[in-house]
Amino acid sequence: MTTLKRVIKTTGDGSQTLYLPDWKEHYHSVHGALAESLHVFIQHGFDRLPRNLKKVHILEVGFGTGLNALLSMDRAARQDVRLCYHALEPHPLSEEEVAQLNHPQLVSGGKHAGAFQRMHASTFGTKQMITSRFEFTLWKQTLEAAGLEPEFYELVYHDAFAPQFQPDLWGEIALKKIYRSLKSGGILVTYSARGSVKRALRACGFNLEHPPGPAGKREITVAVR
Ligand SMILES: C[S@@+](CC[C@H](N)C(=O)[O-])C[C@H]1O[C@@H](n2cnc3c(N)ncnc32)[C@H](O)[C@@H]1O
Repeated sequence: MTTLKRVIKTTGDGSQTLYLPDWKEHYHSVHGALAESLHVFIQHGFDRLPRNLKKVHILEVGFGTGLNALLSMDRAARQDVRLCYHALEPHPLSEEEVAQLNHPQLVSGGKHAGAFQRMHASTFGTKQMITSRFEFTLWKQTLEAAGLEPEFYELVYHDAFAPQFQPDLWGEIALKKIYRSLKSGGILVTYSARGSVKRALRACGFNLEHPPGPAGKREITVAVR
C-alpha cells in the first residue's frame, strides 16, 4: 500500500484538510472541512441516534485527519454518552501532519487536544481508552480486508474518497459488509449522493434519505438498515 504525497490546505471556514496532488482530491470540502463534517456526519449521523442510548458504537471508513472522531467525541461528552469508536485507515497520518492540523483548536476551545493526539498515536488494532468514557480502536486496514462484527454498530461514517477514485468502496460487496455490521435501525451516513451509490445501497436493503448537503453539495445520503 503506497501512501500518496499529501499537502495540508486551509479550507473556506479556516479549518484544515489534506490534499492529494496526484489525484487532485481533498480529504474534505474546500468550502469548509469543519462545516462539512459537522453537517454530514454529526448533524445527519450522530444527532439522529436515539437519545436514550447509554453507549454508541461507531465505525468510520477512512479515519484520515480524525476530524469526525474528534467531533463525535465532543458530542458524546456533551450528551454524557459512552462512545466506542472503530476506525479504518490504511494510510495513517504522520506525527508531523497531525501536529500541523488546527482541528483541536477549533473544537470546544482546544479541550480535546490531548485526546486528539492520543487517537492518532494509538497502537493499531488495540483498544485504547482515550478518556474513561471513550474507547477507540484504529485499524491500519482497508474496508475490503476488515472483518466487521455483525450487528455491532448504531452508526457508520462512510468517508472514503469519492467513487471515481475508489469504486470498490462504494459497490455492493463493500456496502453489504457495512449493512451486516449495523444493528437494525442503524445508520450509514455519507457525503456522496451519486446515482450508482444510491442504487448499490438500495440493493443491499438500505432505506435512503437525501438531506440537503453542506455548501457546494446539493444532497447527501442517510441510509438506514
Ligand atoms: C475523504 S478522506 C477521510 C477524511 C476523514 N474522515 C477525516 O475526518 O479527516 C478518505 C480516507 O479514506 C482512507 N482510505 C483509502 N482507502 C481506504 C480503504 N480501502 N478502506 C478504508 N479507508 C480508506 C484514506 O486514506 C483517507 O484517509
